[in-house]
Amino acid sequence: MNLIFLGAPGAGKGTQAEIVCEKLGIPAISTGNMLREAVKNGTPAGLAAKERMDKGDLVPDEIVIGILKDRIAMDDAKNGFILDGFPRTVAQAEALDAMGVQIDKVIEIYVPDEAICARLSGRRVCEGCGNSYHVDFKPTKVDGVCDACGAKVVQRVDDKPETVLSRLATYQEKTAPLKDYYSAKGKLKTVVGQDEISDTAKLTLEAIEG
Ligand code: AP5
Repeated sequence: MNLIFLGAPGAGKGTQAEIVCEKLGIPAISTGNMLREAVKNGTPAGLAAKERMDKGDLVPDEIVIGILKDRIAMDDAKNGFILDGFPRTVAQAEALDAMGVQIDKVIEIYVPDEAICARLSGRRVCEGCGNSYHVDFKPTKVDGVCDACGAKVVQRVDDKPETVLSRLATYQEKTAPLKDYYSAKGKLKTVVGQDEISDTAKLTLEAIEG
């Protein structure tokens, strides 16, 4: 099954992708995580992306499309995948179509902007494996240490309040039009994000299976 998780920054795409990929046995592919890894490793794509990511702007389509194309060609993606954070522009969605990728469902996770700001101010991510936590809603077992790999968890540079507002504006301008794009193809399902992560997971799985 090929799925897309769509939603504003902080809506919970990555959190739900982690849960659903385990249940379905398919990889969650996060372009945000791949770009952060490229920045960390100082690759040409990472060097080109860093400044834009820190400001909350989108990375140019050609860079992200190239990274995504290579990733979905890998063996573990042969039986399906969850795309978290891609596509983010109509041009990226058209590129996916041009690659011949059949998308089964697009799950939009909707959360109001006020809740998003609270979620992102408390988010912490693992420097090692990229796992995501929240100081109140999903704390690590040991303070400051990733449950999965034991590396340090830190706040993302782009989770500062002023950058979050800019990311929300970018989402409305560049990414929200994808709702119409996939709705017209009969693929879009909307899940309203709940206060409890497990409640959202239940609704997300129902939307995928329904
Ligand atoms: P990316 O990493 O994709 O960031 P994003 O889309 O802004 O999404 P987030 O990771 O911020 O949020 P999320 O929806 O995954 O929420 P999460 O589950 O972590 O992209 C970063 C940057 O990379 C972009 O700004 C851009 O520059 C670039 N980029 C990436 N892809 C690109 C593309 N395709 N094209 C161009 N540029 C691209 O949850 C947030 C927090 O809330 C967590 O702390 C979590 O624990 C908590 N939480 C989750 N669910 C709940 C709940 N139900 N109740 C309470 N707390 C919850």
